[in-house]
Amino acid sequence: MDETLEAIPDYAAQATNLTPVLGRYFERSWSHGQGHRLYDTAGRGYLDFANSIAVTVLGHAHPRVSAAIHAQVDKLIGPTGAIGYSEPVVRLASMVADTLPDPIDTVFFLNSGSEAIEGALKLARRATGRPALIAFEGGFHGRTFGAASVTTSSINYRVGYEPLLPSVYFAPFPAAYRDFGGDADEATRACIAALTRLTATTVPATSVAGILIEPVQGEGGYYPAPPEFMRRLRAFCDEFGILLLADEVQTGYARTGRMWAFEESGIVPDVVCIAKALANGLPLSALATSRELQERWGKGAHGSTYGGNPVACAAGIAVLETMRDEGLIENARARGEELTAGLRSLMAEDERIGDVRGPGLMIGVEFVADRDTREPDGATAAAVQARAAELGLLVLTCGPAHQVVRWVAPLDVSPAEVSESLEIFGEALRTA
Ligand SMILES: Cc1ncc(COP(=O)(O)O)c(C=O)c1O
Repeated sequence: MDETLEAIPDYAAQATNLTPVLGRYFERSWSHGQGHRLYDTAGRGYLDFANSIAVTVLGHAHPRVSAAIHAQVDKLIGPTGAIGYSEPVVRLASMVADTLPDPIDTVFFLNSGSEAIEGALKLARRATGRPALIAFEGGFHGRTFGAASVTTSSINYRVGYEPLLPSVYFAPFPAAYRDFGGDADEATRACIAALTRLTATTVPATSVAGILIEPVQGEGGYYPAPPEFMRRLRAFCDEFGILLLADEVQTGYARTGRMWAFEESGIVPDVVCIAKALANGLPLSALATSRELQERWGKGAHGSTYGGNPVACAAGIAVLETMRDEGLIENARARGEELTAGLRSLMAEDERIGDVRGPGLMIGVEFVADRDTREPDGATAAAVQARAAELGLLVLTCGPAHQVVRWVAPLDVSPAEVSESLEIFGEALRTA
């Protein structure tokens, strides 16, 4: 073997003390990240359109984010929110609230997406005094017990953990392409009918504390809920005094070409769960609601030692300032359209691709064994994703059979990088 290669650290081979439980998309060893590239220990750069699953939305070692982190580390790392207030935490709460529609104006910081979901579920139960929760089939909301209890995107997240949280019910999600022949109106009609049936036969609507939904299912396959479905869901919640809980952990922060995915439908949820992009990689999540709702939840009803630490919040401020100064919502929309159009051109020449769908920079490329039956083809999706990595492009997969290649480009991706990614993906399709 080449001696220089022997000197290249292979962390996978050295990871004997690291858990084997964690699933990994890549068995590669990473050295560092710079801009939109992730570098392996051999020094090879990969165009990173995985972004730690929609987390490093401004890429790696972003100068403004790094500077904010460095400055805050030297000034104040703690204390926990229970000890008092600090400037970055208060300021980020105000900035996040400014991105949200009325009456949402109050932010509770936590550490992870799962924790934001836990908080939302607890809030819904305590604030309404009702026991039941409804979530959607195929949804992914996290790994903690409460979050896993509302998650059905894969049996592996649930098997062996029963009994999970009681009084959780599931309604079908309007995944138009997968379950309704691409007919969004039919998906809306059928899924609202199913929800109505659920509350007529299984759990009374007046016992339901909250309905939890990803406006675009992420892990479940990058399926957007039709806007009309979201409007009818909002009306259903209003009719029965149910809180509408939006899981914007993956869809939020301009991922869909809007600051919040729910904006597409014009509705306002009662609770918004935020994480991933919030601090470009530092652990930070949030739960945003009206002040009135958190007052109903009650003082001391929830808490967190690490949630909203000043360093993560300083990074969060840099993220929002950069998004504003660089017009990144508009960029996400424009680059998302270019990427979707390019992928649709590739689809026109490749029968294995059944669908290419946005919105924005939340793009799914669904592989099927047959375009008519839409039978999922996870093997081809996996082969194309692996080949793309060999060729220098990192993308992910999702969906019940892992049949969807998901694109999570950074929000500040350039037109040149969009073209480069399309070139590589085209080559991966030809040679996988
Ligand atoms: C929509 C959604 N909700 C919740 C979570 C859980 O977030 P975390 O892994 O930070 O706990 C995820 C993570 O992928 C997610 O995509």
